[in-house]
Amino acid sequence: MANFASSVDGVVALGGRGPTRGGEITGFDPEDRQRMAVLRALSDVVVVGAGTVRSVPRHTWTAEHLWPEARPTVASFRRATGRSPQPWIVVVSGTGSLPSRRPMFRSGEVEVLVVTTPAGARRLRWAKTRPWVHLHVARTRSPISAGEILGAIARKVPRARVLLEGGPHLFGTFLDASGVDELFLTISPQVAGRGRRPRLGLSAGVEFAPDHPRWGRLIEARVGRRMLFLRYRFDRPERRRVSTGPSRGARLNRRGG
Ligand SMILES: NC(=O)c1ccc[n+]([C@@H]2O[C@H](COP(=O)([O-])OP(=O)(O)OC[C@H]3O[C@@H](n4cnc5c(N)ncnc54)[C@H](OP(=O)(O)O)[C@@H]3O)[C@@H](O)[C@H]2O)c1
Repeated sequence: MANFASSVDGVVALGGRGPTRGGEITGFDPEDRQRMAVLRALSDVVVVGAGTVRSVPRHTWTAEHLWPEARPTVASFRRATGRSPQPWIVVVSGTGSLPSRRPMFRSGEVEVLVVTTPAGARRLRWAKTRPWVHLHVARTRSPISAGEILGAIARKVPRARVLLEGGPHLFGTFLDASGVDELFLTISPQVAGRGRRPRLGLSAGVEFAPDHPRWGRLIEARVGRRMLFLRYRFDRPERRRVSTGPSRGARLNRRGG
């Protein structure tokens, strides 16, 4: 499942100068943060792209980061349901350009899996000194396919419930491979606008419509105090395993090279 917040005009990242986190989209709405925390509490693995990691320096990708008061409840729920204390964090990076001093790489409180390329692995040599940071080196160059990423996850956490938290380029890779079953989407009543600079929408790097449209089904809609909380299901064309071969995601548009 994937989780995103979007402005009413379809912007998920403001980009450019100043802060570019998802929080600016919802105005750090408490209900949205609680919903994200619940999704993390229910998940075995949280997957994020390197661009998202680079955009939020202090984030720890845990439920309590978003909802500190829920820490005891989350801990007892995860214990009672046989889950690890924290979901694994999986970071996908072609270049391996990841800041080693970020809390999630330093703390040792969460297991981290970095899925990268051979070139990326060379930049990530620092990970060898941290037993809680694991590397999966993909056989291919970037973009790494959703099948390869899910295969790497399955080797570490079999039968994992996977939560994809963005960003748009990684979501594009997953959607391209029919690797998204459900999308939780928060619509914020903000018009972010677009000037000359492009601003990212929900999915980037791959064009679907009109030739290969991805249609979801709305299965839940809830009106919050300020936000609209939507949930979509994406049925796979046929119940097949996500392909591990090269996908149309090979057209992933790597901004900045
Ligand atoms: N509103 C929301 O709900 C929400 C959610 C998430 C993120 N965001 C925002 O979105 C912005 C980032 O957007 P983004 O599209 O750049 O995010 P992203 O997908 O997290 O990051 C893109 C980078 O991740 C790596 N990557 C992604 N897919 C890959 C693949 N298939 N194979 C290999 N590497 C892959 C690459 O890293 P390398 O460059 O290291 O190769 C790529 O440059 C940030 O401002 C973030 O805050 C918003």
